[in-house]
Amino acid sequence: MLKTEEMGVRLDLSEAEQAFQAAVREYADEFVAPRAAELDSLKRFPIDAMREMAAKGWLAIITPEQYSGLGLGHFDLVLLGEELNRVCPSTGVSWSVHSSLVTSPLITFGSEALKEKYLPVLARCERVGAYCLSEPDYGSDAGGLQCRYQEVEGGYRLKGTKAWITNGPDAQLFLVFATKDPAMRTKGISAFFIDGETEGLSIGKKETKLGIRASSTSQIFLDDVFVPTENLLGEEGRGFHIAMHTLDGGRVGIGTQALGIARGCLEATRAHVLENGLDKHQSVQFGLADMAVQCDAARLLIYRAARLKDLGRPHSREASMAKLFASEAANAAARRAVEIFGNEGIFEGSIVERLFRDAKITEIYEGTSEIQRLVISRFVLK
Ligand code: CAA
Repeated sequence: MLKTEEMGVRLDLSEAEQAFQAAVREYADEFVAPRAAELDSLKRFPIDAMREMAAKGWLAIITPEQYSGLGLGHFDLVLLGEELNRVCPSTGVSWSVHSSLVTSPLITFGSEALKEKYLPVLARCERVGAYCLSEPDYGSDAGGLQCRYQEVEGGYRLKGTKAWITNGPDAQLFLVFATKDPAMRTKGISAFFIDGETEGLSIGKKETKLGIRASSTSQIFLDDVFVPTENLLGEEGRGFHIAMHTLDGGRVGIGTQALGIARGCLEATRAHVLENGLDKHQSVQFGLADMAVQCDAARLLIYRAARLKDLGRPHSREASMAKLFASEAANAAARRAVEIFGNEGIFEGSIVERLFRDAKITEIYEGTSEIQRLVISRFVLK
């Protein structure tokens, strides 16, 4: 019989978490929301917000205090992520890649020397981080990646191309996954931290995207790049495990981004409906009701996954469920929001037009909906 998983985790917020949530909401409303449309229109990386958040310690929420962090948990990442993404998903993903995808594996798998070298630098935003797993021919099948490394005196040399790299054009620190031999598949992969100014590393053209236009994306080219031994992350050959372990947390992050988008759509639509006297129409009422259910259900799944992660308990299944449900909910909510706004919802400058475009990528990056279904179904069929 299929085992029913008990929740087994707290879903309420402690007083400290409520205070943190209030602080990040105030910052998002006062400083991120007013700049979001312009950054989107200019396709400008939100470096100001990244620096402001660094000054508050918010680029290092999960970083232990001894490395200039706040020493909080993944649940706090969720609290900040929801508020940020509600008003600006471009800022949300730029922050999430830096503070979760790059920072988290360094905390979990980094040597003492590597942590001392890079965690404070990331905390202070002296370098923006990028996570380089995907390649032009290997996105969903991450285990097939072709970027090669070979051992040389004092370190390694890397050669290959990474694709769709979020933060790529604005990053100065790259977490790169490469293989000793593609025939070894997942067992041949190792992870390396590479400084942006290293000889042989170059950044492709900044891509123009459907949504999250203020976040930057590019290819990364590695042409015989030397990486010193101390910049290997974790053990050699454990890179795929590191990538997947990190993505479990990252998927909670993208689920949170999607939740933020859904809530942004709900709030904007509610205000629009009340301002324009549309609240007596039952179809509009039902639309708002559906969006409210989507937000709450997504939040419950995300809170569960984040609490499990903070407790050090397995959470791959829960992270994939949260990401799958929330990303599909965000797209449904955005579609409904634009429909209720009507003509006003399709013009540039309307928040729902932007959130509608921003929602799509949440079903694609950090594992497509198909990949999430694959991960979940493996647990169902175990
Ligand atoms: N945590 C730790 N280890 C894990 C793991 C996890 N969640 N999942 C798998 N592993 C380990 C397995 O235990 C196994 O280890 P052993 O060899 O020691 O037994 C090894 O990894 C291989 O696992 P699988 O056999 O399951 O590997 P697979 O080839 O079947 O791939 C997959 C599984 C789920 C399809 C995986 O390739 C995947 O997640 N693909 C999607 C890639 C992805 O999400 N890319 C996102 C790019 S980053 C991004 O998008 C950032 C951004 O821009 C914002």
